[in-house]
Amino acid sequence: MIRYVFLLLLSMALFSCSKTLTRKEAELFKERGDQIVQKTTAELSGNLTSKMKEGGIPLAVEYCNTAALPLTSKISEAEKVSIKRTSLKTRNPLNDPSEEELKVLKKFSSRIKKNASPEPIVQIDQSGKPHYYAPILVEKKCLMCHGTVDKELSKNADSIIKSFYPNDLAVGFKEGDLRGIWSISFP
Ligand code: HEC
Repeated sequence: MIRYVFLLLLSMALFSCSKTLTRKEAELFKERGDQIVQKTTAELSGNLTSKMKEGGIPLAVEYCNTAALPLTSKISEAEKVSIKRTSLKTRNPLNDPSEEELKVLKKFSSRIKKNASPEPIVQIDQSGKPHYYAPILVEKKCLMCHGTVDKELSKNADSIIKSFYPNDLAVGFKEGDLRGIWSISFP
């Protein structure tokens, strides 16, 4: 019996050890996460801006529709991580949050409501992997596709968006709102 109790305690201890990161490790994952976010944001927004210039909202939306997910997958492969953008109000249901992401989204969202600056976080996720999360805030330039319909987002643009995404929830945002999070899992 004592042996079983010991084994139980040992496995609990091992389990809890694997569940924490040292401060140094967390710092390193945070730096890597920040770099990957910067790189992915730069590629996404650079391409989006040139498509806007080339063909306005219709072409830019088509670009997001056909290229956003392949682009994050391409960078995921190159960086050997798994990169996802998710939100409490998604446009593409393929970006819907997991239960764990939902908790993080709610945490960031309540911090923003309290006007506290939402810093990126690193924690061990349910599958035991280091996981980086960073907030994505709404900027003015996002509103033509994520703002209020018939205000910043024209009815015409909205109907183009709805033709690609009939279940679109990602409208009605204001500058400074939490648009979503980056969710990056390390191997
Ligand atoms: C030209 C229109 C357009 C602009 C401008 C735009 N987006 Fe989007 N956004 C989209 C489309 C379309 C999708 C769906 C992409 C997909 O299919 O994965 C999307 C998806 C997202 C997602 C993924 C989660 C989801 O809802 O599916 C985030 C996060 C996001 N946008 C944030 C932003 C931010 C932040 C800005 C401004 C810096 C921005 N977007 C500007 C059209 C736009």
